[in-house]
Amino acid sequence: MATGERLAALVRASRSVISSHQGLINDESIGDKNLTGARVVEESLALYSKNNEHLLPDERFTPAEKQLFDAQIAAIREIVDENQVVINAKGVGFKGFIPATFARLVNERLEKKVGERAKIKVTAPEDLVRNRKALPDDWERDVIESKFQSADWPKGKPFVEESEMDGRQAFRMLIPEYYSPSCLTCHGQPKGEIDVSGYPKEGAAEGDLGGAISIMLFR
Ligand code: HEC
Repeated sequence: MATGERLAALVRASRSVISSHQGLINDESIGDKNLTGARVVEESLALYSKNNEHLLPDERFTPAEKQLFDAQIAAIREIVDENQVVINAKGVGFKGFIPATFARLVNERLEKKVGERAKIKVTAPEDLVRNRKALPDDWERDVIESKFQSADWPKGKPFVEESEMDGRQAFRMLIPEYYSPSCLTCHGQPKGEIDVSGYPKEGAAEGDLGGAISIMLFR
């Protein structure tokens, strides 16, 4: 459980760091932005530590947990470093380097590194999915529809279950995420209007279920 929470917390922290620099990333007047992988990792770990005192990477870390955490950190560093040309492009405003895309690339990289032991995916209710890669699998769809979208599900409460996945026993954890005001420039009203990233807006409102972080840990 703690392992899954740590992975999800680091996804969230690193996404917030990218979000906090969105204005800089989108600034067409600046070339070199000094937003390196090392800097994003450093700021992500600082934010992670601030928000997750109960999950600090410390001596209680088993070697296996440390390996996953380190792989996730390496994935964050690599994705930011590999996108320097995009991030530092002068004369281009919106570059498509946004938290959701960054997180997907990091999660895909993590899967390459440790996919036989752990996977992270950001998914969403099926009718909201923008990128097909984010489509929920049967288990995720069922949890979203029967738990997160039911009126009496406590807001923010994760769902965890031991489940079979690709023929293996997996510890699965799904954490609901809701739209905040900052999300609505792209996911809000008016429904169908094309947002800055080129997708039609979902017409969502603040507090609506927007997606879920899915954590899979394999035995
Ligand atoms: C600049 C526009 C923009 C903003 C702001 C934005 N998103 Fe998105 N969101 C996107 C795009 C584009 C994708 C597809 C990214 C990809 O896979 O490359 C996406 C994907 C997602 C996904 C993954 C599922 C899917 O549809 O592919 C979730 C969940 C999500 N956004 C939720 C949020 C939440 C919650 C916020 C606010 C904290 C937010 N978004 C802010 C544009 C935006």
